[in-house]
Amino acid sequence: MLPRRAVITAHVLLACSGADLAHVPVSRRVRGGYLVAERQQLQRLRTKENPSTSSRDATAGAPGAALPGREMAASASADASAGLRSEFLQVLLSRRRDLQVPLSVEKGSPVRNPIYQKLPGPMDAVPMESCLRKEVENFKEKLVEENFYLITELGEQGRLPVLLLKLNDHVPKRKPVIVFLHSSYKCKEWLRPLLEAYASRGYISVAIDSRYHGERASNETTYIDALKSAWRNGDTMPFIFDTVWDLIKLGDHLSEREDVDPCRIGITGESLGGMHAWFSAFVDTRYSVTVPIIGVQGFRWAIDNNMWQARVNSIKPLFEARTDLGKSEIDTEVVEKVWEKIAPGLDSQFDAPYSLPLIAPRPLLLLNGAEDSRCPISGLEEPSSRAAKAYEESGSAEKFMFIAEPGIGHQMTVNMVKKASDWFDRFL
Ligand SMILES: *[C@@H]1O[C@H](CO)[C@@H](O)[C@H](O)[C@H]1NC(C)=O
Repeated sequence: MLPRRAVITAHVLLACSGADLAHVPVSRRVRGGYLVAERQQLQRLRTKENPSTSSRDATAGAPGAALPGREMAASASADASAGLRSEFLQVLLSRRRDLQVPLSVEKGSPVRNPIYQKLPGPMDAVPMESCLRKEVENFKEKLVEENFYLITELGEQGRLPVLLLKLNDHVPKRKPVIVFLHSSYKCKEWLRPLLEAYASRGYISVAIDSRYHGERASNETTYIDALKSAWRNGDTMPFIFDTVWDLIKLGDHLSEREDVDPCRIGITGESLGGMHAWFSAFVDTRYSVTVPIIGVQGFRWAIDNNMWQARVNSIKPLFEARTDLGKSEIDTEVVEKVWEKIAPGLDSQFDAPYSLPLIAPRPLLLLNGAEDSRCPISGLEEPSSRAAKAYEESGSAEKFMFIAEPGIGHQMTVNMVKKASDWFDRFL
C-alpha cells in the first residue's frame, strides 16, 4: 500500500493540473517539501544554462533553440523567476545550513495571556471586527480550534506556534485556507476577530507568531533585542526573512493536511505581516492568492529618495548600530549597512520592483494608505507598474490591483478589511 502522503500528492496533482495553475506544479509533484522541489528546479536550470555538464538523462539538450520567439521569451522569464526565487532561498539557507530538521508537529494549547511588546491602541481592533461574518447557528460550539507547533529548524526560534480555526460542519471536504500575519510587536491571538470571521464563512483560518513575537518572545524587548543581536552577530535575520522560512514550512504542512485544498492557500497580513505575505508569495508559489496590507514598499527607493526615516523609526534601537559605524546620527549609509547585514538583498535584488512581479499570475491585491510615510506610495510606482505589466503579459491583468486609500497613513482601515475579504471570496 502506498504511504498516505503519496496518496495526497496524487490528489494534489489532479486538483492542480489546470492550465491556470501551470506555474505551480514543481513544488507539488515532489515529496519532501518546497525546498527539495526548488533545489531540483535549480538543478534543471543549471543543466539548461550549461548543457555540456548535464547528466545523460537531460536529453532535451538546449530546448530554447527550438522554441518560437514568444514561447522562448516566456520560458526565459520563467527561468529568471526561478532564478531569483532560488537566490532568495540561498539567502535563507545561508544562516541555517546546520539547523535543518525534518518538519514535525507538536501539540500546543491556547494562550491565555499573550505577550504584546507594545500595547495596542484602544481602536486598533475596530477594522478587524468589521470583517464580514456569516451567521452560523451555535457558532462557538461549531468552531474548532487547534494550537500546535511546527518544528521548522533547530533551536528555540525553530518552534513555530500556530493557531488554526475552522468550522466543524460535518462535511468532510477540503477547504480553502488563509494565513494571517500580525504586525510588529503583536501576536497571533490579536488576529482572532479576523480568524473567526473567515472561519464563519467556511475558510480555515491560520495565524502564526512571527519570530521573536508572541510565544516566541519572553518579554517586551525580545524582538528589538533580536534585531540588535542580528546586527552584532550576523547569525540570524529577524526582520522578515526568518519568518518567511517558517512560512515556507507552514506551506509544506498546509499542503499535506487532509482538510486543506492545497490549490487554495491564501496569505495576508498587516504592516510587518504584509511584508511577510509579500515575500512568502514571491518565494513560495503554493501561496495562491495574496493580499499584503500596508506592507509593500520600495526599500531602495526610500534610500535613494531620503524617505527611510519613518520605517527606521518603527525599529529604531536597531539603527543605533550607527555608533558601531562611528556615526553621530543615523544616515543613509547606516540604513544600507544594517539592511545588508540583517536582510541581505532587501534593498537590492529582492526589493519590490523585482520580487512583486514574480507573484504573477496569482491574484495579488496591494492595499496601502496614500499618506503612509513608512510605505510611501511614490516608492510603489515602479513596483506596481512592473507588476501590472507582468500580469498583463500573463493574460491575467484583472488579477492584480493596487489601491492606495486617500488620506490614510500607516493604518489598516475598515475599507481595507472589506477589500481584502472581497478579494479572497472572489479569487480563492
Ligand atoms: C528580556 O529577556 C532577555 C532574555 O531572557 C533578557 O536578557 C532581557 O534582559 C529581558 N529584558 C527585560 C526588559 O526584561
